[in-house]
Amino acid sequence: MGTTIVVLPGDGVGPEVMAQGLRVLRTVGEGLGIDFEVVEFPCGGKYYLDHGKEWPDDAFITCRDDSDAILLGAVGWPGAWMPDGRLAGSSVVLGLRFNLDLYANIRPIKLYPNVRHQVSERFAQVWEPRDVDLVIVRENTEGIYADTHGQLNRGGKVEVATDVRIITRKGAERIIRHAFAICAARGGAPKDKIHRVTCVDKSNVLSGCRLFRSVYDEVASEHPDVAKDYAYIDAFQQWLVRSPELYDVVVTTNMFGDIATDLGAVLQGGMGMAASANVGERHGMFEPIHGSAPKHAGQDRVNPIAMVLSVQAMLAWLGERRKDATLRRAAVAVEGAVMDVLADGSRLTYDLGGTATTTAVGDALLVNLRRRLGKR
Ligand code: IPM
Ligand code: MG
Repeated sequence: MGTTIVVLPGDGVGPEVMAQGLRVLRTVGEGLGIDFEVVEFPCGGKYYLDHGKEWPDDAFITCRDDSDAILLGAVGWPGAWMPDGRLAGSSVVLGLRFNLDLYANIRPIKLYPNVRHQVSERFAQVWEPRDVDLVIVRENTEGIYADTHGQLNRGGKVEVATDVRIITRKGAERIIRHAFAICAARGGAPKDKIHRVTCVDKSNVLSGCRLFRSVYDEVASEHPDVAKDYAYIDAFQQWLVRSPELYDVVVTTNMFGDIATDLGAVLQGGMGMAASANVGERHGMFEPIHGSAPKHAGQDRVNPIAMVLSVQAMLAWLGERRKDATLRRAAVAVEGAVMDVLADGSRLTYDLGGTATTTAVGDALLVNLRRRLGKR
């Protein structure tokens, strides 16, 4: 059975990192005999400026009906805004999340050996890699991102603007259950190896967060083996930087997860290391959490590892869904290759203190992968 991957390179550095992600995908495909069919669509802000739409008409239908998984690079281009003020290209990423019901946005925050956190040049390496290994599970289909935005126009002027935050029992329950399932498959928090799911909210102020926390309590009571833990989002940001080793799995609402994962990226060596999976019952879309970085575009200099680890997450997800040992093996091989290239240290991009190009990192990954997969 062939596996169809829809590829949406997008804007700026998106196509550059995607090129390396696809080389990795093809290499594991060849090495393990997996038949990947890649269907590519242009999309994003630049595409919008040129074509008056964010992606071709059939792109979404293909994602929905004719793909096994989706890979997205990044969207956003200078001057590319929608008439209503939104970022052109955002309906690709948000459109897929909402319209394919990709309710779980899974963002691992893992500091690999030989990678330095980016808190400040002036701090010594504070954490050992083994201290930073958590997953933030971000609700992805409601919260303040729900399509309930509005503006009141009076006399040609916008007088009032609203973004209504929606929290539902169903939305809370499914993301919290997902977080507990992820926790069960892990080895606990780095500090104490205790399985822990931290509920991050602002339930001291917000009513939606009180619902979210009460659903967390209900689900948590079914898991007496997992340590219950709570944090308000403001305090959580502080604890995440001070004591990342306390955290195992963190579950939170949409926008809090958006904010916390950029901070989390600092602990794992920067945005160039931060991958994500957007998954629902039927579909999966995988993307680095970084943006299109227009100022770096066209220079072959950004770190492709976040994209490559997103490919790895896709392989792992497909492997779990299909109970397919070869796909699972492919995912393990990709993470192994990334770890070897990081540990070797001679082919790293500028953000990790090296001078290698995006392509050179891809080359090093391919050499390593071929060696790993050569003997079957
Ligand atoms: C992210 C991004 C997106 C978000 C943007 C591009 C719409 O910041 O994936 O974290 O806000 O979710
Ligand atoms: Mg974000």
